[in-house]
Amino acid sequence: MSDPMYDRFLRACRREPVDRTPLWIMRQAGRYLPEYREVRSKADFLTVCRTPELAAEVTLQPLRRFALDAAILFSDIMVPLDAFGIPMTFEPGPKIADPIRTRPQVDRLEARPVAEAVPFVADTIRLLRRELEGKTPLIGFCGAPFTIAAYLVQGEGKEGFSAVKRLMYRDPGTLHALLEKLTTVMADYLRLQIDAGAQAIQIFDSWAGILDDPAYREFALPSVKHLIAAVQERGVPAIYFLNGAPHLIETAVAERPDVLGVCWRQSLASVAARIPEQIALQGNLDPHVLFADPVVVYDQATAILSSMANRPGHIMNLGHGIMPETPIVSVEALVDAVQSFDRSLVEQGAT
Ligand code: CP3
Repeated sequence: MSDPMYDRFLRACRREPVDRTPLWIMRQAGRYLPEYREVRSKADFLTVCRTPELAAEVTLQPLRRFALDAAILFSDIMVPLDAFGIPMTFEPGPKIADPIRTRPQVDRLEARPVAEAVPFVADTIRLLRRELEGKTPLIGFCGAPFTIAAYLVQGEGKEGFSAVKRLMYRDPGTLHALLEKLTTVMADYLRLQIDAGAQAIQIFDSWAGILDDPAYREFALPSVKHLIAAVQERGVPAIYFLNGAPHLIETAVAERPDVLGVCWRQSLASVAARIPEQIALQGNLDPHVLFADPVVVYDQATAILSSMANRPGHIMNLGHGIMPETPIVSVEALVDAVQSFDRSLVEQGAT
């Protein structure tokens, strides 16, 4: 594709030259948008995920408002667990009626093929590719198996996710068995998305940061390695988003994702200094900055862009998902900063 609007995101994933830094926003479809709340007033969250027309509609909503350089499939990291038939609700985060904590529970988990369990995901992707063709590339995603396990064992989102760590020390074999089953399903799920038309994949490891380095190497990294390979085998870039884990960055990049996405806790420049130059970087404005005056949003976004202007392969994003009460004008200020940022000024040393 020659249209720069169309391919600057995919080019940045591969560290190729771009006309300007691409931007997308984690959770760009969501409750901060009145048009999303309108759809949600008529359908519950899982119904939106499971209905291709609704999922495609909410995926496209942020692109109609803002000049974003990628779309991300509207779904949730817990949706492919339909393959195991694990009952769950969203309140608004995932709630598992019967948390998985014992070996017999893990042994009873049997996965149906994802194409049978979640056919609506492939249908949504095909619908979106038709709508987006020649305009905006589409990102597919999954949760990293350790992060999904954190929810399944805890039963809900909870600071520290202590239950999964207790299981890890009390009965490591059971956690390994669970992670293995999740990894097999997630690899199939990513292949399903890519075959349906997803042009890049983000693996969300939102809670790996609760582990120390040895535990991360043993329990989280092997499944991430497997998923990165599954994506790259299909010739699609793999973005690995590692949240809240500045202590795990060197270990993570040894698995060579095409792009490392990081949270807001460290400066991108300091992360860049710690990783091989062959890996692109994504991030990392603190989502809370969007509650500041738009002038502050603009300045902080520009500071991140400047710090990365001389490193090939930067994708602008927040350091975690955008929050429900975020003012629209802040998102506009972020888009404005990206669009008006002139890297030639930085290259000449003028800023
Ligand atoms: O980015 C996008 O626009 C695509 C959609 C998307 C959602 N969840 C929609 C959603 C994506 C990529 C996710 C990923 C996800 N889900 C993650 C990884 C990213 C992260 O935040 O670390 C995690 C941990 C989950 C689990 C989950 N699902 C939580 C914690 C919540 C509650 C969050 C909240 O904002 O209250 C959900 C529900 C959810 N997933 C919502 C949306 C838009 C809100 C549901 C609603 O409309 O009521």
